Amino acid sequence: MKAKARAHANIALIKYWGKADEALIIPNNSSLSLTLDAFYTDTHVHFDEHLAEDEFILDGKSDPKTLVKISKFADLFRAIKGINTRVRVKSVNHVPTAAGLASSASGFAALGVAINAALDLNMDAEVLSTYIRQGSGSATRSVYGGLVEWQKGSNTTDSKAVFIDDATFDLGMVIVVIDKDEKTISSRVGMQHTIETSPYYTLWAKDSARDLEAMKEAISNKDIDHIGSIAEHNALKMHATMMSANPAIIYMQPDSLKAIQMVQAMRNEGLTAFIAMDAGPNVKIVCKLSESDQIVSRLKTTFKDEQIIVSGPGPDAYVLEE
Ligand code: PMV
Repeated sequence: MKAKARAHANIALIKYWGKADEALIIPNNSSLSLTLDAFYTDTHVHFDEHLAEDEFILDGKSDPKTLVKISKFADLFRAIKGINTRVRVKSVNHVPTAAGLASSASGFAALGVAINAALDLNMDAEVLSTYIRQGSGSATRSVYGGLVEWQKGSNTTDSKAVFIDDATFDLGMVIVVIDKDEKTISSRVGMQHTIETSPYYTLWAKDSARDLEAMKEAISNKDIDHIGSIAEHNALKMHATMMSANPAIIYMQPDSLKAIQMVQAMRNEGLTAFIAMDAGPNVKIVCKLSESDQIVSRLKTTFKDEQIIVSGPGPDAYVLEE
């Protein structure tokens, strides 16, 4: 009962922000993301009869805080298999620099794929995504490569990932690492606070559904300018909604705004470059891979080399040979 798997991180172009069901992690709105080649997690699991407790080692160090979530997640699969065997989980996050972008998305997706293989559960990616969702919402989308929708659904079996496109039409992302420290307000807490206190929240969810339809149309046309402009509008609407919570949630830092202004300037020069920020200060730039060198050289006038990472679309999550 051992297996190893790899899953890549994803960045949402249509954001998930807010749950309809807290316990099952069913979102208020469907979302859509690009799986990234540059960031991934490798996870080895071993269900071992000799273990008295579950164990979790992340990048060589034990991580008791995440272990609680991992045990709960493993319980979902133990229940299906009808076992109580404890598991040893070893994960390694692969990021090009110490970017601090290690994400729960690639982590829970790799863990789900590894457990599915170790316990011979034979779930297909879509079904598996409904379990991975219960580890971390954004992880739902990391079961597939390329462009992936997380359909919000209305119950635990239909809130799932759906593959949209492999994204091999020059779509890419440049990531500007503004701050690699852990965020001060977790997305779970931030979402709930926004729902409870922002007068704009319902409008955000409604508008997102419209953005999603427009995004799918832009993807089918392989229109990167349109994809980027919808993504930027959607991301900044999410940040505006967070800022309209009371007290406000502000993830941007002064250097985030600096990067945003540079992106606007690049656009005025004719480059395809659009913002997609998440619940943190780092700035992701939706772009054409063929123009990424030009974008990077402009960013280097202000940011250090190690703050800038380029990524193309990544693959599906998969089982690795041991
Ligand atoms: O599922 P979480 O807790 O990683 O929340 C993700 C929230 C955003 O990154 C802001 C948006 C998204 O869709 O990934």
